[in-house]
Amino acid sequence: MKIFSGSTNKRLAKKIVESLKSESIKLGKLKIDNFLDGEILPIFKESVRDEDVYFIQSTITSKSIIETLLVVDAAKRSGCKSFTLVAPFQGYSRQDKIDHLRSSIGSKMLADILEKVGVSKIITIDLHASSIQGFYNIPLIHLNGNKIFIDYVKGIKDLTILSPDQGAVPRASDFCKAFPKASFAMINKKRIKPNEIHSMELVGDVKDRNVVIIDDLIDTGGTLKKAANLIVENGAKSVRAIATHGVLSGNAISNIETSPLKELLVSDSITKNDLIASSKIKYVSCGELVSKAIWSTANKMSIHELNTVK
Ligand code: R5P
Repeated sequence: MKIFSGSTNKRLAKKIVESLKSESIKLGKLKIDNFLDGEILPIFKESVRDEDVYFIQSTITSKSIIETLLVVDAAKRSGCKSFTLVAPFQGYSRQDKIDHLRSSIGSKMLADILEKVGVSKIITIDLHASSIQGFYNIPLIHLNGNKIFIDYVKGIKDLTILSPDQGAVPRASDFCKAFPKASFAMINKKRIKPNEIHSMELVGDVKDRNVVIIDDLIDTGGTLKKAANLIVENGAKSVRAIATHGVLSGNAISNIETSPLKELLVSDSITKNDLIASSKIKYVSCGELVSKAIWSTANKMSIHELNTVK
């Protein structure tokens, strides 16, 4: 097996390789050249012939998707045995169905092109909708991001786990399995267009509770800020949030800083955001989880235990 990193997740890739049980596996040599006009040219600087290639790259931007496709092409043309795309965050996951008249389904299109270029397997964490798994005809290992954050919530008294919208209910309910004494609440959210929320209505009691919001991703932080305000208005003692993927675009930082949130925990599935300075944002690495998943699949071991919240 050989492991390589794309340009979006270099620090995470190092952590993943360091966490592997084998010290003989090092990050492989892959050069990604960029022409001045933006064209990308990946070149493997070591042989991948008959190797199981693992490529670590969150497909967050359109550029990283093209880079990924070209790397698959280079690996296949160089005779690799299999190609596993390790994409801790998969972009375009929010396009999982037709939500707007005559719109695209980006996650289905992404699945089609990844398969077409020759990806053999995918490892990812917390797809926006778990039904996206069905868009693939190759094995897709869908890791449970809740596992990364459980330890950080232990010790919070009068705990209420809250889902910020209907879509996040299964994820938040799964998180509750680790906290049987916690109560549950949710928000009924309506959107008019992407990144713009129309209305929010709290379902459940948060008075005198320490609330932890569980979401898959934070983008502009609009959902989070509005949810945190609503929770505080309804008498909560404190509000924290956990989101597996810190997309953090647009006004995200100022929305988070000016919200009543005590803290926001995100994973390093999107590595560029490690650098974002905010007193409220804390990073928790998903490296060990991903590393264990790579090790399990490479050694034909079940990932069931790895994925179960208890
Ligand atoms: C929505 O369905 C997602 O789970 C997130 O809550 C949402 O995408 C976050 O977007 P923003 O931070 O821009 O409100």
